[in-house]
Amino acid sequence: MFDYRTMFDLSDRVALVVGAGSGIGQASAMGLAAFGAKAYCADVNLAGAEETARQIEEQGGQAEALYIDILEPDSIAAGLAQTGPVDILVSTPSVNVRKPLLDYTPEEFDKVIDLNLKGTFQVVQAVARGMAEQGRGSIIVFSSIRSQVVEPGQGVYAATKAGVVQMIRALAAELAPRGVRANLIGPGVVETPLTAQIKNHPDWYNAYAQRNAFGRWAQPHEMVGAVVYLASDASSYVTGSIIFVDGGWLAVDGRFSPPL
Ligand SMILES: NC(=O)c1ccc[n+]([C@@H]2O[C@H](COP(=O)([O-])OP(=O)(O)OC[C@H]3O[C@@H](n4cnc5c(N)ncnc54)[C@H](O)[C@@H]3O)[C@@H](O)[C@H]2O)c1
Repeated sequence: MFDYRTMFDLSDRVALVVGAGSGIGQASAMGLAAFGAKAYCADVNLAGAEETARQIEEQGGQAEALYIDILEPDSIAAGLAQTGPVDILVSTPSVNVRKPLLDYTPEEFDKVIDLNLKGTFQVVQAVARGMAEQGRGSIIVFSSIRSQVVEPGQGVYAATKAGVVQMIRALAAELAPRGVRANLIGPGVVETPLTAQIKNHPDWYNAYAQRNAFGRWAQPHEMVGAVVYLASDASSYVTGSIIFVDGGWLAVDGRFSPPL
């Protein structure tokens, strides 16, 4: 009989979390380790990754910090030489330059596309090759509600967040026969360094809080239920999906509450 109690157990799994030095990546590494995974905490900010690994170990989990720059294929390869075979990949690094499209410079365009699309592609490709050889693995890439809805200033970022959705769907189709699943998570608004610019503007911050059904921002740990679910056997029949963890942002129009 199927043992329902083991569905979320990650105790025999190796997880590589890229972007683990901050925000949602840090919370993801902590959550995966709490469910038993050995968490390799990778980041271009090695001090941040080390702090995450330290916190995991303090809580009795298994963790190791790694330097990985997803813009550099050699750095990814060197990181993977340290981890050995990986069962779970979580990739979070992304950047946003919030600016009207007419004001975007070619350099800003390249910066956003290079990290969010090419960097993500490079790390996913390198890890997925090993998973396909092993015949198992779960890949989780962070997209955003901006893959679906936009506002002024989000054009290039939104294009990358929609772009990764299609890339990961294709990967899911290509690797399902080899036992590898690939999915995405689409957060709403989460308080992290990425959104610090918004927190510094009370009007902007409050407008986003009011835009979702709960009337508040999310904390990074609120993304982790979806991460653990997609990493574990609980989602063994789930691939090519995007789970929105957005406080109802995409469901609720939010312009007006009728006087009922
Ligand atoms: N925070 C939000 O409100 C929000 C909303 C929607 C989507 N998201 C998505 O969630 C993901 C995580 O966002 P976050 O808020 O945790 O961001 P964050 O900026 O807090 O963390 C990103 C981490 O990636 C690392 N990083 C940057 N470049 C790297 C590189 N070249 N190689 C390796 N690591 C690198 C950074 O050092 C940092 O530790 C992103 O993909 C973002 O688009 C976030």
